[in-house]
Amino acid sequence: MKILVVGSGGREHALAWKLAQSERVQTIFVAPGNGGTATDIRLKNIDITDPATLADFVQQEQIELTVVGPEVPLAAGIVNIFRDRGLKIFGPSKEAAQLESSKDFAKAFMHRHQIPTAEYQTFSDVQAAHDYISAKGAPIVIKADGLAAGKGVVVAMSLDEAHAAVDMMLSDNKLGDAGARVVIEEFLAGEEASFIVMVDGKNILPLATSQDHKRLLDNDEGPNTGGMGAYSPAPIVTPQLHARVMREIIVPTVQGMAKDGIVFTGFLYAGLMIDEHGTPKTLEFNCRMGDPETQPIMARLKTDLVNVMEHAVNGTLDTVELEWDRRTAMGVVMAAAGYPDAPRKGDKITGIPTETPDSVTFHAGTVLNDKVLSTNGGRVLCVVGLGDTVKLAQKHAYDVVEKIHFDGAQYRRDIGWRALNRKH
Ligand code: AMP
Ligand code: GLY
Repeated sequence: MKILVVGSGGREHALAWKLAQSERVQTIFVAPGNGGTATDIRLKNIDITDPATLADFVQQEQIELTVVGPEVPLAAGIVNIFRDRGLKIFGPSKEAAQLESSKDFAKAFMHRHQIPTAEYQTFSDVQAAHDYISAKGAPIVIKADGLAAGKGVVVAMSLDEAHAAVDMMLSDNKLGDAGARVVIEEFLAGEEASFIVMVDGKNILPLATSQDHKRLLDNDEGPNTGGMGAYSPAPIVTPQLHARVMREIIVPTVQGMAKDGIVFTGFLYAGLMIDEHGTPKTLEFNCRMGDPETQPIMARLKTDLVNVMEHAVNGTLDTVELEWDRRTAMGVVMAAAGYPDAPRKGDKITGIPTETPDSVTFHAGTVLNDKVLSTNGGRVLCVVGLGDTVKLAQKHAYDVVEKIHFDGAQYRRDIGWRALNRKH
């Protein structure tokens, strides 16, 4: 069968790589793909991004299944367009994608269905937002309502920072429409984890747990990024906590959406903050898989992903049991010079070793031109190492990272430190 993966990042390379392992697959198209998907003979890049044109392509090529990676096409309604034409696609409708595309929608939803999250209020009036911040004090968190490519959240440790964030979004319109409304919420302390499940409308299938590292520099310092590394499993998510997150957050979310008349299908990703007592609260929802979390998660998945996806689009996920590699998978992101503010493009990449049973390198911001591989975006590669212990997985990842070269490469040396420090 033929399959289409929509997107161009490391997440999409990892999904396509895993789907391609199925014996049932003839061709996997990736739209638009990257230098890594261009190199893999089982994958074929196609240079289309417009959802309606993609649906035309799927009809012409008789592609049986489409899997969507990023949030932007989901929020634009790619699933609605495909379903209207009777095409099978895994992802949420435009309406369901509001859980990610509007922070105000997500907060009001959680409030309505008693799903644990930080206290908040939404503002479009500048003065009212400033007054609220003055009344609440710092630390406090300011979030643009709309999609802002990872730039929409300011965790303000001081009142000055908080007021500046409101001015940036509401007065100076630095984030455009996405920042025309802001959610201001209570600061939550604790440790974060990514909790990702597949939903077919009524059945929920949890994926392996994971944690990512958002800050650019070692010791979780420096600016926030899209993610500098991630690993699976996340030891903080014990079986007890897993059950609690399902009971208090995931199941009420899927049922709550259905009650509100919006059936949720697709990947559902709850970003969790777990406090010192082990109590989880929802920081945010994403209606897609995480990047870079997908890379270590796919490296551990043993089950045929094509079969899983078929059950997901047919509403029979209750019959699926996932099998995972018991090892830890550690993904280290190599980013371009200038990332995250102004990533440089065009640096030549050399030294990527072939995949081994202990390691695999997924591409993100790369491009292949005349057989030369170059950087083409902020997050360039995600090198995943697998090992029986966290330490061994880390070693296998960094052994590969050290073989790869491009000018200005930035990467953290401490990916996995929380899992390493944890006493079991
Ligand atoms: P979000 O896109 O909502 O997940 O926010 C991006 C990052 O900001 C999160 O991964 C957290 O590190 C941080 N963050 C978001 N909301 C809060 C909060 N209420 N308290 C503390 N940190 C937060
Ligand atoms: N790794 C965080 C995200 O995908 O949003």
